[in-house]
Amino acid sequence: MEQPQKLRSIITVNEFIRRQEKLTGVATGEFSGLLMDLILASKIVHREVNKAGLVNILGTEGSANVSGDTQMKLDVFANEQFLAALEVGGHCLAAASEELEGIVCFEGGRQRGARYIVALDPLDGSSNIDVNVSIGTIFAVFRVDEPGKLVTEKDFLRPGKELVAAGYVLYGSSTMLVFTTGQSVNGFTLDPSLGEYCLSHPEIRTPEVGSIYSVNEANLNDMPEGVKNYLASCKTKNNPAGKVHTARYIGSLVADFHRNLLKGGIYLYPATAKDPQGKLRLLYECAPLGFICEQAGGRASDGNRSVLELKPDTLHQRCPLFIGSAAMVRHAESFLNG
Ligand code: AHG
Ligand code: MN
Ligand code: MN
Repeated sequence: MEQPQKLRSIITVNEFIRRQEKLTGVATGEFSGLLMDLILASKIVHREVNKAGLVNILGTEGSANVSGDTQMKLDVFANEQFLAALEVGGHCLAAASEELEGIVCFEGGRQRGARYIVALDPLDGSSNIDVNVSIGTIFAVFRVDEPGKLVTEKDFLRPGKELVAAGYVLYGSSTMLVFTTGQSVNGFTLDPSLGEYCLSHPEIRTPEVGSIYSVNEANLNDMPEGVKNYLASCKTKNNPAGKVHTARYIGSLVADFHRNLLKGGIYLYPATAKDPQGKLRLLYECAPLGFICEQAGGRASDGNRSVLELKPDTLHQRCPLFIGSAAMVRHAESFLNG
């Protein structure tokens, strides 16, 4: 007969955060509260994603977002849920989002003397929404120097190395939360029957080298010569893996990144003739995933230097991205510099 699972063998994300708080001695509960707000919003988005095929939430909303991409209904929904959770929770001073031109400040957080600001890609992989393919959410958390501060856009224009936490939610065959507070990277899988994220991937380390490469190769003719030459090397044995690579590209950054993080590989979205700065956004795509990747032993680069060194000049600034197994990213960089 199947034995019931011992409850004590499950570590929920709430329990994990409590233990981490004790370990780090930061026992104010403020930061944990902020994470719990984000987690609540992610569960609401998970619920909506899972019934998306059944209700009229699919399809294009019609409007374009501030970066000129077509906005889907679920993008709007996810944006609203995350912003509402941050506002109601009272642990956040202000948020920036892919779906908002400017920042939004939360009066409640200010009155409570909150210290955190959050940058979000509420729904990543929007072209995959209406075909039931994995999508995600990315979040980046900074701390401001003065509790309850009146935040301006400038407070968000900081390099990724100043992040205090970053994470993503993958709405895939299971929903997963992966985050780091700058110590280790841990992954939690949502058990829908419990409504709890349970620790499933403790202390993730990404392989130093792998053999997956992920790129929208349809753009090849528009890519810099160095990138073309690097991609040619992926098709030979003349690379750190010493073997011909395998191509995997979902078109949802979170999903492509997550697979490569676990299996070893590289994701690249270089500058192209159409997008001279690349397509991805520094503040809420490249920096948070770069922070996670480097905490897991990988590397994230714009082709020249770590994306964590780059300070954005504007909220929606784009940046070329080469991210994944450290040896592979360094190999790619060697084609670009020199
Ligand atoms: P978003 O849906 O948040 O706008 O992000 C889309 C991004 C990223 O998720 C994905 O890897 C990339 O765009 C795909 O771009 P291409 O369709 O140009 O390959
Ligand atoms: Mn995105
Ligand atoms: Mn998005």
